[in-house]
Amino acid sequence: MPLSQTIALNDGHHIPRLGFGVWRLPDEDAPGVVGAAIRAGYRHIDTAQGYDNEEGVGRAVREAEVPRGELFITSKERTRDQGYDSTFRSLEGSLKRLGLDYLDLFLIHWPVPEHDRYAETWRALVELRAQGRVRSIGVSNFLPSHFDRLIGETGVVPAVNQVELHPRYQQRDIRDWHAAHSIVTESYSPLGGEGAALLREPVVTDIATRLSKTPAQVVIRWHLQQDLVVLPKTANPTRVTENLDVWSFTLSTEDIARIDALDRPDGKTLPRPEEMNTLF
Ligand code: A2P
Repeated sequence: MPLSQTIALNDGHHIPRLGFGVWRLPDEDAPGVVGAAIRAGYRHIDTAQGYDNEEGVGRAVREAEVPRGELFITSKERTRDQGYDSTFRSLEGSLKRLGLDYLDLFLIHWPVPEHDRYAETWRALVELRAQGRVRSIGVSNFLPSHFDRLIGETGVVPAVNQVELHPRYQQRDIRDWHAAHSIVTESYSPLGGEGAALLREPVVTDIATRLSKTPAQVVIRWHLQQDLVVLPKTANPTRVTENLDVWSFTLSTEDIARIDALDRPDGKTLPRPEEMNTLF
């Protein structure tokens, strides 16, 4: 059966399974690159306050020929803005820079437990959702202990948790936990992050050659077939279209199993959630 291009969130909204990631895309390049991505067919753009490119992303969204209602725009709150009152200002800042009147999804970027502000930040997000300033709310880089607190204090379960996830770091435990709580998992650094060594991995290149696909397409398809929302990023125009062309083939159970076997305990490329407090 073909995969539908969206996945249901626990709040009744739907999220496109494939999104365009824009970390490290300079603001001045964002209108061109994101505009090309939308023309190529992306309908989901994943930015963050900490990427410092909301203005450029917003320009591309506003100038696109695709109606706003057909696009799914995510941003994430900077750590320094966490807090109840400050979160209202923070979201308004994102909307202003983007030039939009609502976001489809707003995330707490990192839990930063030593600041102890993620729970009150979550209460503000729940309120912003009720006000319609944001359709769906979620988190990024959260662990089950952080979720327990959010859910315990508000009863509201985040719609998504966006985490580093790729064949070298598959996060099986947290994915099972998300599934048990109706939380959608979003994969960042889905191609394995900077340098893309994963794409030279023989298991991946073998499968790609056999299917006449590229290694990146195989890895993106691996994410899609496991109900992960996948957010590849590239500034390269050829790759922008290449990474979208993932709907017309299927990985067999055997191919999925071969890629599953690439999982490594030390496969993480970015800091762990509990270690992060400065970036973004
Ligand atoms: P580039 O911008 O030069 O294309 P991710 O962080 O999403 O896992 O991606 C890791 C790197 O993979 C990105 O820096 C990107 O670099 C590169 N990349 C993205 N798409 C492709 C592709 N189709 N083939 C090869 N490399 C890719």
